[in-house]
Amino acid sequence: MTIGITGAGGFIGSHLVERLLRDGRSVSALDLAPTLPPNLSEWRDHPAFQYHSGDIRDPRALEPFLRDPMEAVFHLAATVGVRSYIETPLETIDTIVGGTRNVVDACRRRDSRLIFLSTSEVYGKNPKIPWNEESDRVLGPSSFSRWSYSASKGLCEHLVNAVHGAYGLPTTIIRPFNVYGPRQRPAFLVPATIYRTLRGERPLVYDSGSQTRCFTYISDLVDGLSRALGPNAIGRTYNFGSEEEHTIAEVVDVVLRECGASFAPSYVKTAQVLGDGYEDVPRRVPDSSRAREELGWVAPTRLGEGVRATVAWARQNPSWLANPGP
Ligand SMILES: NC(=O)c1ccc[n+]([C@@H]2O[C@H](COP(=O)([O-])OP(=O)(O)OC[C@H]3O[C@@H](n4cnc5c(N)ncnc54)[C@H](O)[C@@H]3O)[C@@H](O)[C@H]2O)c1
Repeated sequence: MTIGITGAGGFIGSHLVERLLRDGRSVSALDLAPTLPPNLSEWRDHPAFQYHSGDIRDPRALEPFLRDPMEAVFHLAATVGVRSYIETPLETIDTIVGGTRNVVDACRRRDSRLIFLSTSEVYGKNPKIPWNEESDRVLGPSSFSRWSYSASKGLCEHLVNAVHGAYGLPTTIIRPFNVYGPRQRPAFLVPATIYRTLRGERPLVYDSGSQTRCFTYISDLVDGLSRALGPNAIGRTYNFGSEEEHTIAEVVDVVLRECGASFAPSYVKTAQVLGDGYEDVPRRVPDSSRAREELGWVAPTRLGEGVRATVAWARQNPSWLANPGP
């Protein structure tokens, strides 16, 4: 039996491929790149690894990828990054809603287990912190394309739950919280701050820097994804998030310290960078007790430790530092 991963060439996907192959599983990977993406090059000749190029918006692209009997399909492919939701909401919606519909249908035809990567963004700006899996979703108006990602992922959760209810398809929904680590594009807070600092540029703090997030180190998330393959995760939704809350300004300070940099960050207004269509979320904090109690999952990596490992990786990968940036 093989495990399928859509979006396998991306940040989380490539770490999941590594974990599953190291655990002795067979992996069928799908992503947009016509040839093996750099994040997966290490596995080129691995006998239990296959790469398929394809777009999840095209149902025919899923056929070769899902040719073998599948133990489970991790569905990760999505348009990711706040700039994309704001600038290309149509692509965000087509990829997430249209693509997920195709993946769900393909899993249904094969009666294959489906593990859908949703997001903590589904909770929107709900002010009642911390959020558990039954917390309300509080979104801004649809005239703000910033909410297109959250709304699309939320609709896909309904789709996954509906297919589970109607046909008994074994499904699981995962909501990761601000994942970071080696290989992530410098379009997100931790890698963007490392990228700028190691290039000798002052890192950016958006607005007051007092917004908070809970940063989850990639190996902790991937450990949770592996636990989600267990039978007790079927039909369930899980928050996968560290419960260690930090302001954005604190995170930038931690990166500066770990990089050994002495310069101060630059404060910028989000509206100047992303336009008026952006609304920020003041606090984003999970209650991850369900994953702890049902799957035995914890996120033990403290922010300083995860940032140190990511900085060490960045220093050893000059090609990442040379890329054109966010
Ligand atoms: N990184 C985070 O903090 C985070 C948090 C919550 C949820 N998630 C979810 O986890 C998943 C993976 O995120 P990531 O951080 O690895 O992002 P990523 O951008 O690094 O990876 C996404 C991958 O999907 C691929 N992809 C995009 N459109 C596609 C299409 N139409 N067909 C096939 N492949 C396509 C991309 O090429 C990319 O390799 C996403 O579903 C995202 O919504 C991520």
